[in-house]
Amino acid sequence: MPRPDRPMRLRRTSALRGLVRETRLSPADLVLPLFVKDGDGLRDEITSMPGVYQLSVDEAVREAARAGRLGVSGVLLFGIPQHKDAEGSAATADDEAVQRAVRAIKAEVPDLAVVTDVCLCEYTDHGHCGFLGTDGALELESSLPQHVAAAVSHARAGADLVAPSSMIDGVVGAIRDGLDAAGFGHVGIFSYAVKYASAFYGPFRDAADSAPVFGDRRGHQMDPANAREALREAALDVDEGADLLMVKPALSYLDVIWRVREAFPDRPLGAYHVSGEYAMLKAAAERGWIDERRAALEALTSIKRAGADIVITYYATEAAEWLSEGGPKG
Ligand code: PBG
Repeated sequence: MPRPDRPMRLRRTSALRGLVRETRLSPADLVLPLFVKDGDGLRDEITSMPGVYQLSVDEAVREAARAGRLGVSGVLLFGIPQHKDAEGSAATADDEAVQRAVRAIKAEVPDLAVVTDVCLCEYTDHGHCGFLGTDGALELESSLPQHVAAAVSHARAGADLVAPSSMIDGVVGAIRDGLDAAGFGHVGIFSYAVKYASAFYGPFRDAADSAPVFGDRRGHQMDPANAREALREAALDVDEGADLLMVKPALSYLDVIWRVREAFPDRPLGAYHVSGEYAMLKAAAERGWIDERRAALEALTSIKRAGADIVITYYATEAAEWLSEGGPKG
């Protein structure tokens, strides 16, 4: 008679569970997004994202330093400009909040990786990620150079990586060429290679004030129903020179993270646990409906288990603190 297998033997104590744990989330896996704007001493909380703020540059440096002290590897910067126009011209200005935040964080928290989001939607008055043609669709010829100019301006400020997030065709190759031509061959590209036209970005658009005034992004971001297409998108970006790949959002797309991991085993892969995913946990936790610490660490661990090396999350600092206290229970 074969003896029955008894997996419960290895779950009996915390030490045994630790010994056989397959996935370990660590602060070093995490990247913290920050929203920066002009001003001094400003911390304006975003209503739909408790614990997340629009920050002036000095406050962004403090947040970055705190995350860095807890072992978080990097920050991802988004700008909220004073002035928006049809071209999103503030996106390329060397003295805008993002560019100043890059310089300040690089100077004061030099061990942190500084990544910048490259997109025009926060900077255009119509809220779209580039220039619109007469048919209302994004026009590549005019939109790409503006993305390149923004990326070069971030590189000039000292960004380690630029992260194009508009999902418009050819943006990675155009930025690679532009960075190289401007002498920034050492600056890497963290491509939002697989980004879905997702409802989970809602709170971000409040945070960054970047909701499209009309229309939506379904003409250039991916259809949530598609997974095979993700491999085509990732392959294009690798060909165009992406150094790291990203899937976004994370939790509704764990299968896609897994597929990209398998198809591109030699590429660092990030996944973005986006604003709506954060807001859902916060909202349920506020009502006492879930144990926030356990649920958040479970969500972030599952993203890593699915195959992501890097998790971009608004929970980065809190999660790093929880992990330093011993994980879910403390
Ligand atoms: C575009 C961008 C978006 C997010 C990151 N970069 C919004 C969008 O595509 O509409 C969303 C991030 C989040 O929801 O946390 N600049």
